[in-house]
Amino acid sequence: MRVYDIIKKKRDGNSLTNEEIEFFVSNYVKGEIPDYQASAFCMAIYFQGMNLDETTALTLAVRNSGETLDFSSVDGVRADKHSTGGVGDKTSLVVAPIVASLGVKVAKMSGRGLGHTGGTIDKLEAIPNFNTNIEKQKFIQIVNEIGVCIVGQSANLAPADKKLYALRDVTATVDSIPLIASSIMGKKLCADDDVIVLDVKTGSGAFMKTVEESVNLAEVMVGIGKKAGKKITALITDMDIPLGNAIGNALEVKEAIETLNGNGKADFVEICIALATEMLYLSGKGDRNTCESLARKSLMDGSAKQTFKNMIKAQGGDERVVDDLSLLPKAKYNYDIRAEKSGYIYSVDAEKYGLCALSLGAGRNKVGDKIDFSAGIILNKKTGDKIEKGEVIATLYANDQGLFEKASQILLTATRISDEKPTQRRLILAKVE
Ligand code: URA
Repeated sequence: MRVYDIIKKKRDGNSLTNEEIEFFVSNYVKGEIPDYQASAFCMAIYFQGMNLDETTALTLAVRNSGETLDFSSVDGVRADKHSTGGVGDKTSLVVAPIVASLGVKVAKMSGRGLGHTGGTIDKLEAIPNFNTNIEKQKFIQIVNEIGVCIVGQSANLAPADKKLYALRDVTATVDSIPLIASSIMGKKLCADDDVIVLDVKTGSGAFMKTVEESVNLAEVMVGIGKKAGKKITALITDMDIPLGNAIGNALEVKEAIETLNGNGKADFVEICIALATEMLYLSGKGDRNTCESLARKSLMDGSAKQTFKNMIKAQGGDERVVDDLSLLPKAKYNYDIRAEKSGYIYSVDAEKYGLCALSLGAGRNKVGDKIDFSAGIILNKKTGDKIEKGEVIATLYANDQGLFEKASQILLTATRISDEKPTQRRLILAKVE
């Protein structure tokens, strides 16, 4: 097999065989195919696309490039959720405890934030002493005892994706559906789950900006999951507006705990309940109405909160944060951003809101950058809200006052105030089963 011929075949719009795809990926990981050929390969996929069989073969090649986890010693049904990335998306912190409190096991490997999107692992590490690096046997033991454990991805998980993603990032080939789907599902399939619920974000703060593109991506990922023998559903959810009111790690943990205390913001609660319902339904806990009632009950009667507390303790964290939010990291300074005119918040650019939080220290510009857990934004007004001139739109939090000027400019230019009230968009825009 010649690398040149594989690239040419895809460049000319032909379908590749499983063997050709596996050959390319495994030799690229071994360092036997140079970056310039892998770049051409990605660009050929970008322009010519891939059918579901090819995308599945690419996904499995990514998965098989490194370590896979055996969950056979976890008792019961194992379910996971995955978000394609958004701003203020702290759903895993609430959904995983709800589902686990109802007897479905959640052995979760999550990622870190990069660019404008946050990551569950960074959020959890905002809890003092929380350990996201737990060896495999202990991980399974915690899942069996508590029902849930959330850890970071091991260094040897899907190395092909690490290499390919870094290459795509600098060759303008990130936004290709087969490449995104195989990257996400290649990592997801490393874990040995029975059920996967995908939260495909759509809108200004998401990778996919339109519902149509998001449905296309969801259909491919669901197709791959089915071929791999999983029970899988995708919800397409709104990311034109950040989720909830907090953006930034400790601020988001606080919002998640308030939600587990029964005081969540309506938009955030709706998404959490919808995702938990799907996970419970696919795990065989009853019809969707029953699963929704179970999820709501767990959230309101404190069961999910207790499970979250147990998980923090089992992972070495200070579980007292659940009852005493003052134990979370707190920024030294805050700064109110006020409206320059009266009207309605007509629209916001959620990606820029994420970049605003990043500029305050809440995120990373590149892998390995240190983050400030206490930094971020609390939104006082969101799209559709009425606002008077001088009223607070949002409060910024940082440990360096010098960061406020640039951050407030980013947020103000990302916020459109108009005399017209916007029509409200639904939060759950589609479902792919
Ligand atoms: N998230 C991933 O893990 N991979 C992509 O390609 C895009 C988003």
